[in-house]
Amino acid sequence: MQPRHFISLLDITATEFRAIINRAIELKADRNPDYQPLKGRVMAMIFEKSSTRTRISFESGMAHFGGSALFLSPRDTQLGRGEPLEDSARVISSMVDCIMLRTYHHHTVTTFAEYSSVPVINALTDLLHPCQLLADMQTYFELRGDIQGRTVAWIGDGNNMCHSYINAARLLEFKLHIACPPGYQPDQDISAAAGDGIVFFDNASDAAQAADLIVTDVWASMGQEQEHKQREIAFKNYQVTPAIMANAKQDALFMHCLPAHRGEEVSAAVIDGPQSVVFAEAENRLHAQKALLEFLLCR
Ligand code: CP
Ligand code: NVA
Repeated sequence: MQPRHFISLLDITATEFRAIINRAIELKADRNPDYQPLKGRVMAMIFEKSSTRTRISFESGMAHFGGSALFLSPRDTQLGRGEPLEDSARVISSMVDCIMLRTYHHHTVTTFAEYSSVPVINALTDLLHPCQLLADMQTYFELRGDIQGRTVAWIGDGNNMCHSYINAARLLEFKLHIACPPGYQPDQDISAAAGDGIVFFDNASDAAQAADLIVTDVWASMGQEQEHKQREIAFKNYQVTPAIMANAKQDALFMHCLPAHRGEEVSAAVIDGPQSVVFAEAENRLHAQKALLEFLLCR
C-alpha cells in the first residue's frame, strides 16, 4: 500500500484538516504521558535549511508519543555528497517509520515521497510550508472558532507561506485578501486554482479592510539573503503597522510564522501588542504536528 504523505495541504481533505485541528486542540488540553502511540518508532528529520520551531516541535512530539527522531543535516549524510534522492529515499525509508524534510526545491520532497516506503512530511520548501498552516489554523479555531467564511489578509511576499494560505483558503473556505508588491506575487497556478476565494489588492491598507486575521512573513526567505537590500526597497510599504491593524476588524488577530524582523515586515507595536498570537501559534506547531503524526502513522 502507498504510504500517506503530507507534502501539501491539498494532500488532505477539508474534513481531515478539521479533524487534525480538533485533535491538536485535544492533545494540547490533555497531555497524557502514558499515551505513547509511536513507541519504538523513528522519524528521520532531514534539514537542508535552519530551523528552531520545526525541529524542536517534531523532535518533542515524537518523544511525547514514545518514539524518537534523528536529526540529519546534509553535512552528515551522503545526501550532501550527491547520493541520488531516489536511492536515499529508498534506503532511509527502509530503516525509519516516517521522513520529514526541509529543503529548497519542492521537487526534492516530491521525489523523496515517490521513492519512500513510509510517509514523507514537507517541513518547508521554497514553494510550501503546510505544517505551519496546521498550527495557524489550530490557533484561529481555538481563539475564534471555525474560519469558514472569515476574511484573512496576507500582506508581504507571495512566498511559501502565502502559497500555503491560498491552499488553506481553498480547503477551509475562507476569503483571502492578498497584497504583495509588484514582482513578488504568489505563483499564478496556485492562486488560479483557488478561484474567487482569493482577492488581490495593490496596497496593504485595502487588503486589511474588515479582516479577521492579518498575516505576514519575512521579506527575504531562507535562500534569498542576498536579495535583502533590494527587497527592503520593494516591500517598504508592506509593513504591518498599527494603522494597518486598525483597518481590520476590532477583534482581528495577528499571526507570523516566525522568525520575525521587527521594523521590517511588522512593527514591534503589532507583534508585541494585544492582537498578536504569534507565541501561541509557535507552540501549536507541537500540538498540530503530533496530531499530524497520529493521522499519518496510527491508522
Ligand atoms: N516557522 C518555522 O517554520 O520556524 P523554524 O524555521 O524555526 O522551524
Ligand atoms: N518564508 C520563510 C518561512 C520561515 C519559517 C522562509 O522560507 O524562510
